[in-house]
Amino acid sequence: MGVSEIFETMDYGPAPESAAEAMAWIAAHDGRFGHFIDGRFTKPAALFATRNPASGDALAEISQASQGDVDEAVAAAQAAQGKWAKLGGHGRARVMYALARLVQKNARLFAVLETLDNGKPIRESRDIDIPLVHRHFYYHAGMAQLMQAELPGREAVGVCGQVIPWNFPLLMLAWKVAPALAMGNAVVLKPAEYTSLTALLFAEICVQAGVPKGVVNIVTGDGAVGEMVVSHAGVDKVAFTGSTEVGRKIRVATAGSGKSLTLELGGKSPYIVFEDADLDSAVEGLVDAIWFNGGQVCCAGSRLLVQEGIAETFYAKVRARMDKLRVGDPMDKCIDVGAIVDPVQHERIRGMVASSDGEIYQPACDMPAGCYYPPTLITGLESANPLMQEEIFGPVLVATTFRTPEEAVAVANDTRYGLAATLWSENINLALDVAPKLVAGVVWINGTNMFDAAVGFGGVRESGFGREGGWEGLSAYTRPILKSKPLKKLDKFSGEGAATEGLDRTAKLYVGGKQARPDGGYVRPVFGKGGKVLGQVGIANRKDLRNAVEAARGARGWSAATGHLRAQILYYIAENLEARGAEFSSRINDLNGGKTGADEVAAAVSRLFTYAAWADKFGGDVRAVPMRGTALAMREPVGVIGALCPDEAPLLGLISVMAPAIAMGNRVVLVASEHGPLSATDFYQVLDTSDLPGGVVNILTGSHAELAPVMASHMDVDAVWSFSSSDVSGVIEAESATNLKRTWVNDGRARDWFAAEGEGRAFLDAATEVKSVWIPYGE
Ligand code: NAI
Repeated sequence: MGVSEIFETMDYGPAPESAAEAMAWIAAHDGRFGHFIDGRFTKPAALFATRNPASGDALAEISQASQGDVDEAVAAAQAAQGKWAKLGGHGRARVMYALARLVQKNARLFAVLETLDNGKPIRESRDIDIPLVHRHFYYHAGMAQLMQAELPGREAVGVCGQVIPWNFPLLMLAWKVAPALAMGNAVVLKPAEYTSLTALLFAEICVQAGVPKGVVNIVTGDGAVGEMVVSHAGVDKVAFTGSTEVGRKIRVATAGSGKSLTLELGGKSPYIVFEDADLDSAVEGLVDAIWFNGGQVCCAGSRLLVQEGIAETFYAKVRARMDKLRVGDPMDKCIDVGAIVDPVQHERIRGMVASSDGEIYQPACDMPAGCYYPPTLITGLESANPLMQEEIFGPVLVATTFRTPEEAVAVANDTRYGLAATLWSENINLALDVAPKLVAGVVWINGTNMFDAAVGFGGVRESGFGREGGWEGLSAYTRPILKSKPLKKLDKFSGEGAATEGLDRTAKLYVGGKQARPDGGYVRPVFGKGGKVLGQVGIANRKDLRNAVEAARGARGWSAATGHLRAQILYYIAENLEARGAEFSSRINDLNGGKTGADEVAAAVSRLFTYAAWADKFGGDVRAVPMRGTALAMREPVGVIGALCPDEAPLLGLISVMAPAIAMGNRVVLVASEHGPLSATDFYQVLDTSDLPGGVVNILTGSHAELAPVMASHMDVDAVWSFSSSDVSGVIEAESATNLKRTWVNDGRARDWFAAEGEGRAFLDAATEVKSVWIPYGE
């Protein structure tokens, strides 16, 4: 065809990228790969094929790791980690800078290999995945350099077990490996079984960059290998990206092990188009939202919500754009939608679409033979429809309409997930009003699927917990250097007798701002050191806990109150506590049998001041992103936090848990110290006189061991903290898998509540979620 004819027809001519270099790299390994352990490749064994999904051809054979391989990898990581951490921030920064440079230098090889193995368009691997990978290493080289100065009092966690999915193989590796290495950890990473090749190429690059042997280990294989990695006793921290189903299994598998855990799971992210949006830009955004990587993206804008008045116009534009999408050979630089990663995934998508009762549109484009699925739009679905609720993980967009911004928010939030959300409006007031109301870890305004190393990424609800990227991403890869002693169960004092004379002095529970009798009617005596009966407390049961959660849920207004107001109320609580200081002090002395009462009251007043101070100073910050625009890292309350208070310091412990939570806008259900519950029950009256709205703080007395599993499995509790001296961490972590709530449990060490470790940044972090709001600007 001549040039003039091409101009006439505007026919597209294929422009394939060469696979030669990548195939030569595979051939140089005889097409067979072992694991990368302790700085070298093991002999290939227990091989299985990894295929090019576009053609179905086998690309190479990779090894299925045995328990012995995983043991070796973990042992290598353990042996290397200490030295790597001691190398210091600057030493690590230099190695990571070299890694970044080498990934950049080999960008084309990485991009082609990724496309061959995964089936994503070369345009995406070349222009999006790989540039984001080296950006991540550059950014985290900087974090290594700054660690000592900016993260005082924190250290590496140790050995990190990391399991990643197939949809962004090298990018997910970078998101996991870069922060881990920067903070001085060693890693054992398992790539997805469909897409391990770029991880193995990365292993080679690690050798060239001078990463000390054992710091990065890569074991390949299927989910069984993932299970071995996450449950290995030598692994201190687990990081997972993948399906919510597997995330839940990992939560249970690691419960009670002392391992820290972050989960980046699925989503069904809303893509909201208001009637005043720039519709053509919103259509282009949609191409990036749902047809990027064939919709095999955890944060894909897969649920389209369009304002009613423009719905038909907008759908028509979307259909017209879909007609122009090119589906085909991912190695062709002109292709928009590549292959689906595996026939299993293809069949899953086909089945889900076949079950639809909406109106299905698929363009009449030429569909190549092989593992391809056409771009699909399904309109006319109700929010409750399974296709609006379940993750399809393919190029399938489901749509519905809304009338008002309030309805848009309600429909957007009508999901068990909370990963990302996109909104389009030319009205900045509307956009900035709606963004904070969306239950999601990331919100994109007038753009979509924007990512950067400086901006945290991660979800809320069943989309998991933890962030990757930004300062907040580092907390998962560091831990506070705690000097405290091992935690010992503090037994209650015992004595004889049950009743107090005279008036009924049984303290009740504190629910919804009122004193309530325990549902079961059971009470128990509280003894002082010499066996003296000091009073009686109610024993809360699961019904009392449910009532307290309901009261906390109802007190939503507190989360919307200003930091200034919350500060004032915390100061007022401090003032009222101090006014009754002598009474609290003698109570503590009776409960503990010691003389520290006055010190404890003074420390509690000071702690309330600390969080009153923080209440209006922990709002978040602004991130410098490489585009015209900005990204806000907004600190939002977690929601309803259930907490088991420490036994060691009955008043100070309760305040140390309550104050950061409510300062940040959460509502709490506290279970008082079992050892000294009367300090908590005396505290009701301080709360009553301090203008705190009912339901913000609810206090129960009862058995930690009995209430912990009820609290952890409650669907309306968003986070559980435990500083109890009872052995409840395991049950809390296991039960929290129900709705994947955040947990912060004792790691077997007793905190010194009087010292610096009893307050501060770790508490504020746990009391907030970071929402990343992207705001591009300009024409
Ligand atoms: P998956 O969650 O099963 O696999 C992700 C990774 O976990 C892989 O490396 C796999 O080998 C490993 N794994 C599997 N079972 C494990 C276990 N019990 N313990 C430890 N590791 C385990 O995801 P899969 O099967 O590849 O895809 C299924 C669905 O998951 C998709 O259709 C999609 O809906 C969702 N998904 C979500 C992703 C996200 O980015 N949020 C990524 C990949 C899948």
